[in-house]
Amino acid sequence: MPLPPDQTTSTSAPVPEGASLADLVAAAAGCQACDLWRRGTQTVFGAGPPDAELMLVGEQPGDREDLEGAPFVGPAGKVLDRGLRAAGITRERAYATNVVKHFKWTPRGKRRLHQTPNAAEQAACRPWLEAELALVRPTVLVALGATAATSLLGRSFRVTRDRGRFVESSLAPYVLATVHPSSILRSQGDDERERAMDGFIADLSVAASVLEGDDRATAGEGRP
Ligand code: URA
Repeated sequence: MPLPPDQTTSTSAPVPEGASLADLVAAAAGCQACDLWRRGTQTVFGAGPPDAELMLVGEQPGDREDLEGAPFVGPAGKVLDRGLRAAGITRERAYATNVVKHFKWTPRGKRRLHQTPNAAEQAACRPWLEAELALVRPTVLVALGATAATSLLGRSFRVTRDRGRFVESSLAPYVLATVHPSSILRSQGDDERERAMDGFIADLSVAASVLEGDDRATAGEGRP
């Protein structure tokens, strides 16, 4: 079956007023605010404790997430879990979600190759993320990768330059960005992968320092 064109229409996601997280999940299941609903198997909404102190925001669900209907359950999720564990945070403590809630992909042989969601798709999905932020009200918000970082923190944000330190934002008391866990999977060779993982853990440890209530975050790397 031919895929629909990249982007033909986008409106704003239909977020019901006064909704709980469960209401949002139900409403988002039928979201057609952009054309990605035609491509993905299902809406992949955020998951985790509704009162989580930590919110993790990725780009969009991947192949596994699209099939299973939950965020970060595939290979990138395994890297994320390892990073969190090494930083002293259990995944169960975090609410994980994505900027875009449908999987955007293009066929390559039998595989479905990830495609970065464009600005209109990110904007169409934005009300869901805003509603999640308003309900969960995390103390710490971590953007995973450039799409999430620029979507949350502005187009001038550079993960390579600005990662691993708290930046001023109205979205949460403590906001930082780090690399996307899938970038670690794309590392060339063991040494590079190990270095990338160490950097990821270091960034997550800055987030963890606030959750643990210790003062590492305010000693140099702290909130502006
Ligand atoms: N990559 C993301 O950005 N989010 C997921 O949920 C899975 C992979």
